[in-house]
Amino acid sequence: MGEWWRDGVIYQVYPRSFADSDGDGVGDLAGVLARLDHLVTLGVDALWLSPIQPSPMADFGYDVSDYCNVDPLFGTLADLDRLVAACHARGLRLVLDLVPNHSSDRHPWFLDSRGGRGASRRDWYLWRDPAPDGGPPNNWLSHFGGPAWTLDASSGQYYLHSFLPQQPDLNWRNPAVVAAMHGVLRFWLDRGVDGFRVDVIWLLVKDALFRDNPPEPGAAPDARPFARQRAVHTADQPETHAAIAGLRRVLDAYPGRMMVGEIYLPVERLVRYYGGALDECHLPFNFQLLLCAWDASAIAGVIREYEAALPAGAWPNWVLGNHDRPRVASRVGAGQARVAAMLLLTLRGTPTLYYGDELGLEDVAIPPERAQDPAGLREPGRGLGRDAVRTPMPWDASPGAGFTTGEPWLPLNADHASRNVAAHHAEPDSMLALHRRLLALRRATPALVRGTIEGVAAKDGVLRYVRSHDGRRVQVVLNLTATEREVGVAAGTILAATTAGRAGTVEGDVRLVAHEGLVVGVS
Ligand code: GLC
Repeated sequence: MGEWWRDGVIYQVYPRSFADSDGDGVGDLAGVLARLDHLVTLGVDALWLSPIQPSPMADFGYDVSDYCNVDPLFGTLADLDRLVAACHARGLRLVLDLVPNHSSDRHPWFLDSRGGRGASRRDWYLWRDPAPDGGPPNNWLSHFGGPAWTLDASSGQYYLHSFLPQQPDLNWRNPAVVAAMHGVLRFWLDRGVDGFRVDVIWLLVKDALFRDNPPEPGAAPDARPFARQRAVHTADQPETHAAIAGLRRVLDAYPGRMMVGEIYLPVERLVRYYGGALDECHLPFNFQLLLCAWDASAIAGVIREYEAALPAGAWPNWVLGNHDRPRVASRVGAGQARVAAMLLLTLRGTPTLYYGDELGLEDVAIPPERAQDPAGLREPGRGLGRDAVRTPMPWDASPGAGFTTGEPWLPLNADHASRNVAAHHAEPDSMLALHRRLLALRRATPALVRGTIEGVAAKDGVLRYVRSHDGRRVQVVLNLTATEREVGVAAGTILAATTAGRAGTVEGDVRLVAHEGLVVGVS
């Protein structure tokens, strides 16, 4: 116990959209540095930055062309060093995004690899001969639509890309790739970075025989082709675990470092990513709250299932938003978003909070001519674009919202004149104020940080549970409906409420107004 990644709260920053220091409309490291005190007053403990490495930006940084540098758009290595120092000076940890599954097609490794069948780094990537009909080697599909294979005309072979053709997959069965990536980790760890969020870690290794994926039996006929296949041979391969354990050994040579892995899998397979000896991810991201129905019974079920599946000694975690998924305020509604925040910050386990969610930022309507995300552009009409959840952080009511003096790369939220950090700071019952109160309460309440979770139950749209530590009990009751409810609570003092003016003691039957949640310190 006592590790920062257990006791703390992670805050995700999408660097293009947090703060722009030089007026080019895109956020940068100096911007993040200038706004660090927001994280401190908010009360989070660690900053996770989505990728900042040099990139042609085909997938906005998730296509890395140099793993050991900073893209000039974001600044320099010296800016990163300054950010690390500034974080540490404030007691914050800095977690970088690591994208080991694929590089950019402009990475020198791939430029070499595509040089021909005899290239020295040919087998750093996954090259295969065409099928007998000249088509792709098998039926694997890209997460971003279309085949996962692109033909390289000069050598007559196809290369694999689980995402864009500009994101060729590295060959994790090649020890030289593994060694190179370990070197990348050390490069950043030596600079004082506190850990990594590892991109698509459950996809690292692919079937050695490149067998076709079978159809997904339950898929709707009009589902996107990718969803009509079952990723039997392209995801969650047994060999992935050894690859992750290898990354972990590199981290473990440095004190206090952490690895959180991006994994979209059912719970029983997700928890295997802790490793049999807890020697893989410290935290395999738990996305269940992003995926389940927003309903008290469904969420109670998710909590119970997850808690029951955790291996002994494994530490849980919860996520309500990220740069790939709809904003929580859009998904559950503005009133319910306050309840969602209370849930996230009182569950057992490390919460990850997505920038802007502390303001209740909603998905921003993006006019078609401003759409940028390749995931949306390649499969139009399916609502796959992620631009809506990546819009600039609104800091104040000025024309550029304090984000930029130039033209923001994505539109600002239409209500930025009122929904911004400065406005919320001045308003005692704002979403920001609620987050600050909940985070402060969490920090001051061992039962919320380290306590057990018991009595997880749902009735009539109300979700409840108790957190206990050292004989102190904290009860949480959350009305997930838009109408009033009555619930029985143990006698105690209200420590936090989603609604204004709610304080004092409670006992017995308590009325919860619509979207009301209470944290009660049991007497
Ligand atoms: C992960 C990232 C996503 C990116 C993809 C490819 O899912 O979160 O933003 O597009 O990997 O790197």
